[in-house]
Amino acid sequence: VIILGVESSCDETALALVKDGREVLTSLVLSQIQTHAKFGGVVPEVAAREHITALPALLIELTRTSGVSLKNIDAIAVTQGPGLVGCLLVGTSFAKGLQVSLSKPLIPVNHVHAHIHGAFLGIPSDEEILFPCLALVVSGGHTNLYYMEHATHFELLAHTMDDACGESFDKVAKILGLGYPGGPEVEKFAKAGYAGAVTMPRMLERRSVMAFSYSGLKTAVSLQVKESQAKGSPKPADIAASFQEEALGQLARKMAVAIDRIPDIKSVVIAGGVAANQRFQDLLCKSIDRPVVFPSLKFCSDNAAMIAALAFHQWQETTDKTQLNASQWDVFSRYPFEIYKSKRFESSHN
Ligand code: KG4
Ligand code: ZN
Repeated sequence: VIILGVESSCDETALALVKDGREVLTSLVLSQIQTHAKFGGVVPEVAAREHITALPALLIELTRTSGVSLKNIDAIAVTQGPGLVGCLLVGTSFAKGLQVSLSKPLIPVNHVHAHIHGAFLGIPSDEEILFPCLALVVSGGHTNLYYMEHATHFELLAHTMDDACGESFDKVAKILGLGYPGGPEVEKFAKAGYAGAVTMPRMLERRSVMAFSYSGLKTAVSLQVKESQAKGSPKPADIAASFQEEALGQLARKMAVAIDRIPDIKSVVIAGGVAANQRFQDLLCKSIDRPVVFPSLKFCSDNAAMIAALAFHQWQETTDKTQLNASQWDVFSRYPFEIYKSKRFESSHN
C-alpha cells in the first residue's frame, strides 16, 4: 500500500510517499526557518502563505523524482491537526483537491501521534515493534507521554502544564542571545559548559505528579543570565548546560516513573524535534532499562513520511474505505486533551 503524505501544520512544507507504513520511497521537506529566523519565531500568517506556493512546487518535484505515478498511490494522508490553523487549512485544502482529482481516499492524521511513527520509518517490515510501548513526543509544541498497546492506540499519560520542552529550548536560546531554532543552538553551546555548575529548579519532582513543566526553568535561566551580566558569573555556557540537563532530566525521571508503574511496557519510543538531542539520547540509553527507539535525524523534525506512516495503520483498520471521506471532517488547531487523557495514574500517590 503506497500512501502520499501531506504535512503543513507549522513551518515545514512536506510531501512523502511511504509503502506499508515503514518504507520511505520519497520524503521532501521544505523548511521555512530562514523566513522566520529574523522574527525569532514562526509567524503563522507568513507560514500559511508560504505553504500555498510550496505545496504545488513540491508535488511537481515529487512526481519528477520518485518515479511513482500519482495514479498508482492507494490513498492520500494529511495532517488534520494540531497546528497553526491557517497552515492546516492550506494543507487540507490541497489534499482535498488531490482527493477529488485522483479519486483516492483521504485519511486525516493527528500530527503529534504521527511523530511517534517517524521513529518506525526504515525499520524492516518483518521486525516487530515491541508493544505495549511508552512513547514520548517532545517537540516545539508538545511534550506528551503516551502508553500504546498497538500502532493506533494513544493513551495520553502526561503532558506539559505550560511550555513544551522544545519551546523552552527556543526561549532559553533567545535569552542567551543564540539563534533560532533554539534546540540545536543550546545543545551546541552547552558543550562548552559544565552541567553541574548552576543549580536549576527540579520541576515537578514529586513522583505522584504525572505532568511536565518548563516555564519555571526558563525563568531560572533568565535570572541566572541577569546575574551573569551583572557579576560576570555564572558563565553563559554553564547556564545552558545546566538548563539542558534539567530539561532533559525531567523527561527521563517521569519516564522512569511511568515504567515503574506500568511494568508491562516492553519498549520506549522518543519522537519530535528534541529527540535529535544527543545528550538526551545518551541520558535515556543509560537511565531506561528497556530498548529505546529514536527516529533517524531527518524524521525527528516535521516531515510527511510520518503522516503517511500512521495513515497506513488507520487505512488498514478501516474496512469500508468509503468512510475515508474528507467532506466529513475539519481541521483542529488544538489538542483535545480532555478526550484522550488517561485515568491510569489519577488515584496513585507514591
Ligand atoms: O518536531 P519539531 O520539528 O516541530 C514541532 O514542534 O512539531 O520540533 C521542533 C522543536 C523546536 O522547539 C526545536 O528547538 C527543538 O525541537 N529541537 C531541539 C533540538 N533540535 C530541535 N531541542 C533540543 N535539542 C536539539 N538538538
Ligand atoms: Zn511536529
